[in-house]
Amino acid sequence: MKGIILAGGNGTRLQPLTFVSSKQLAPVYDKPMIYYPLSMLMLAGIRDILIITRPTELPLFRALFGDGRQLGLRIDYAEQDEPRGIADAFRIGADHIRGEQCALVLGDNLFHGSNLPSLLRRTALKMGGCVLFGHEVADPHRFGVAEVDARGKLVSIEEKPSRPRSNLAIPGMYFFDAQVTDITKNLTPSPRGELEITDVLQAYLDREAAELVWLGRGVTWLDTGTHETLLEASTFVRDTQRRQGTRLGCVEEIAMYMGYIAPDDCHALGAEMSSSPYGQYVMERARSFSTGMPPTALSENL
Ligand code: G1P
Repeated sequence: MKGIILAGGNGTRLQPLTFVSSKQLAPVYDKPMIYYPLSMLMLAGIRDILIITRPTELPLFRALFGDGRQLGLRIDYAEQDEPRGIADAFRIGADHIRGEQCALVLGDNLFHGSNLPSLLRRTALKMGGCVLFGHEVADPHRFGVAEVDARGKLVSIEEKPSRPRSNLAIPGMYFFDAQVTDITKNLTPSPRGELEITDVLQAYLDREAAELVWLGRGVTWLDTGTHETLLEASTFVRDTQRRQGTRLGCVEEIAMYMGYIAPDDCHALGAEMSSSPYGQYVMERARSFSTGMPPTALSENL
């Protein structure tokens, strides 16, 4: 399965933070925002990843991750010269997907929760049609919204409705079969001029090929689109990490526990940043890897 991280957009709601840098590189406490969505793809078992960015910022992402080899990944880059909507990712990424299944995650979405890694792996394995997630929120009008019937079956999908038919928001992480490129080819822009992800999901629903998976209360989903929610995300990461003594979205640690890189390589990545608590944590995790707990059990906690 292929992965795409969409890290484009002008980040206008975060200006002036985003005048000369990408929103997805903004710090969420101790690491760039994109580490969090990248860690979701890695936990799903996806190692072939395309990052789509604004042309001016592409070199910055490349400087950060290179070709991904140090994390046991293959990372490619592509430009989105104008924000033409989320579904544009499948047009830009058509060559990358090349007839395979594909997971798309938005570069500003952060997830954390027990059982999430196994849910992602199960989803990636049994894929057919598309899988979208639903999460209850207090302000659904800000998101794509899923309408469900009395039995919880998906009935309709709407983008930022002024009168939401449910409080079930659709987070920015989706799994698609190989049809997604064809479906996107036939898509027309919405009244706001964008290729909407919700229209892609609706096309799958029309074919009775869309599965809605509820993310229960044990999962935290944060978006980081405003100054306020960006700060909330940082606070959440700091508090969770401080309480647990572990780190969220630590891609080096995940690469090791997923078996993408050896503990020695993980240690070396930490040593490159040994002046920072983050680097020291990576080195410490690499050292304690051989404590005997099976890596899969540990990776449930990432
Ligand atoms: C986008 C999608 C929306 C989804 C949201 C999740 O909205 O269009 O369906 O619920 O991401 O973060 P945006 O935040 O780009 O306006």
